[in-house]
Amino acid sequence: MKRTLITTVTLNAALDKTYVLPRFALHTANRVGRMLVYPGGKGVNMARVVHQLGGDVLAAGFAAGWNGERLAAELDARGVKHRFVPACGESRLALTIIDEEAEREASSGAGLARAVTELIEPGHRVTPQQLEALLETVQELARQSYIVALCGSLPEGAPADTYAALVEAARAEGALVFVDSSGAALAASLGARPDLIKPNAPEAAGLLGAPVPSDEASAVALLRQLIGADDRGGLPAAGPQTSCPDPSASLSAGITATSDTARNAPKAGADGALSGGEDKPCLRPALPYAVLTLGADGALAASREDGLLRVRVPAVPARSAVGCGDAFFAGLALGFARGLPFPEALRLAAATGTAVSLQLEAGAADPADVQRLLKLVAVERLEG
Ligand SMILES: Nc1ncnc2c1ncn2[C@@H]1O[C@H](COP(=O)(O)OP(=O)(O)OP(=O)(O)O)[C@@H](O)[C@H]1O
Ligand SMILES: [Mg+2]
Repeated sequence: MKRTLITTVTLNAALDKTYVLPRFALHTANRVGRMLVYPGGKGVNMARVVHQLGGDVLAAGFAAGWNGERLAAELDARGVKHRFVPACGESRLALTIIDEEAEREASSGAGLARAVTELIEPGHRVTPQQLEALLETVQELARQSYIVALCGSLPEGAPADTYAALVEAARAEGALVFVDSSGAALAASLGARPDLIKPNAPEAAGLLGAPVPSDEASAVALLRQLIGADDRGGLPAAGPQTSCPDPSASLSAGITATSDTARNAPKAGADGALSGGEDKPCLRPALPYAVLTLGADGALAASREDGLLRVRVPAVPARSAVGCGDAFFAGLALGFARGLPFPEALRLAAATGTAVSLQLEAGAADPADVQRLLKLVAVERLEG
């Protein structure tokens, strides 16, 4: 039987609250006009969006305390399947404050970001036993899943190589493994060679120790660096690695980094940049797929089959950029699960990310918006 299940794994799931205020001011009492409470964290947002678009999905990860219980109850209320392993303490509350006046100013030209303030608690902690229980849960779910998506940051107590271990465990059960993370957690996952990664521009720049791209040319250069393109911009060929090249060779230290286990994963500095010198890993063929999201500027992507792709999204009256990347990931996974070719999966991803930018609530997608936006997204091949 063909597997269709998408399992999302969120190690740092959250209960999200959004406060909508006519005007938000520091150093004074603020009365909240409207309040939204919903289950959150990257993979939880992703699962909710897949579910709203009719996909078969399950949200897994850690949850703890009252916030964890509320999180599970909110998922139940929305009909989203879940399987959370208990952790210590309290799952985090992530508070988003929307300043309506700043929002109106934003729609007349100033930055949308100024209308949004986020306060994110540190979250629960995990023990080695809880990590082991999660690994077993992911293994079991991966057996029935087409895709396992590992999403977000690691909680206190989880070592940096946690994602590498999860990638290997899920792959061993026959699932495709996608990673949406940043910093040391993303860097350490690369040694286990996930099938797809999806950093945004600052995350990719942090990973490679490169500046955040300021225009399309520098974004393309960053993607090339991410996929380990050679000097002529060609994609590395697939196939097994036979030797370990000179570590001073231009690295592709990102997704071409390899090891057969997490033990040899590329070492990341505090900022997540891969370190050089003796710690540089051997080169190996790039990951099958990489996507670089660029907010309102859409995305760039690469696959072995399609080369480099540019994804353009229409200008929309965006309300909140929070969770757009998670929605993009949801559309992408759904596209794969439906057997769409990669460019079409990207189109669905971009339409879904853009549809969620129209909503205040991360994880809320209107399928009618997605349908409408699908026709307005352009996916084109880039030369080289
Ligand atoms: N202002 C916007 N207008 C139109 N589309 C947007 C906008 N912001 C985001 N998107 C859509 O969402 C996708 C992902 O956005 P972005 O690069 O901001 O992700 P992200 O930084 O990973 O987000 P997050 O991690 O908060 O979910 C974009 O490729 C685009 O399709
Ligand atoms: Mg993101």
